[in-house]
Amino acid sequence: MKAIILAGGSGTRLYPLTKAISKQLLPVYDKPMIYYPLSTVLLAGIREILLITNPEYVELYRNLLQDGSQIGVHIQYAVQEIPRGLPDAFIIGEKFINSDKCMLILGDNIFYGQGFSNLLKKAVKLEKGALIFGYYVKDPRAYGVVEFDSNMNVISIEEKPEKPKSNYAIPGIYFFDDKVVELTKTLRPSKRGELEITDLIKKYLELGELKVELFGRGFMWLDMGTFDGLLEASNFVETIQKRQGFYIGCIEEVAYRMGYIDKEQLYKLGYKMRNSEYGRYLMELAGES
Ligand code: TTP
Repeated sequence: MKAIILAGGSGTRLYPLTKAISKQLLPVYDKPMIYYPLSTVLLAGIREILLITNPEYVELYRNLLQDGSQIGVHIQYAVQEIPRGLPDAFIIGEKFINSDKCMLILGDNIFYGQGFSNLLKKAVKLEKGALIFGYYVKDPRAYGVVEFDSNMNVISIEEKPEKPKSNYAIPGIYFFDDKVVELTKTLRPSKRGELEITDLIKKYLELGELKVELFGRGFMWLDMGTFDGLLEASNFVETIQKRQGFYIGCIEEVAYRMGYIDKEQLYKLGYKMRNSEYGRYLMELAGES
């Protein structure tokens, strides 16, 4: 399975913050936003990664993440000229996907909670169809909303409904089988002129190949694309990191724990950033003071 991180878009909900900079490079407590979804991809065990962003930002991401080899993965970059919607990722990424299965994660989504690694491990084993998640929120109107029966069979999927049929929002992490490119090509833009991920998910529903799993009560998912989401994510990361001492979204740590890099490399990466607490955290993890 491969992974695409979508880090384009227009970020208008964060204006003026995002007038001159890509949203997914904004700081979320002590690291760039993109670290959080990237760490999720690493945790899933996927090492072939495509990052899609706007033409003007691609070099910035390359400066930040290079080709990924320093953390034991392979990161490629592609450009989205205009924000044509989330499924556009599969058109842009067709060659990269090369008939494999593909995970899609939004560059402004953060996930954290017990059992998440196991959930991801299960998800990447997907053989056929699509797997999405449901997360209970008080007000799901800003999201795709999934309705299901008591056997977890999906009944309906709606994009940003005014009157949601359930409280389960669909977070920005999706797993699709090798039909994803072909099915995306059958989609037509919605009234707002974009290809909609909910329309793609509906195709799988029509085929009877859609699975949904729920994130539980203790799980944290935030969309960092609003002022509140951005601040809440920063506060959450700070709270956990200070209280427990475990970092959230630390790509070097995940790479080390997953066995993509060894202790020496982890230390080297930390040493380059030894003036920051982040760098020193990596050095400590590597067992050096
Ligand atoms: P959104 O938050 O829905 O859109 P946006 O980032 O353009 O922001 P706003 O609504 O404030 O104008 O996008 C979700 C994620 O997907 C985000 O990380 C940006 C990314 N994205 C793309 O990369 N390409 C796209 O065409 C769209 C619509 C989003």
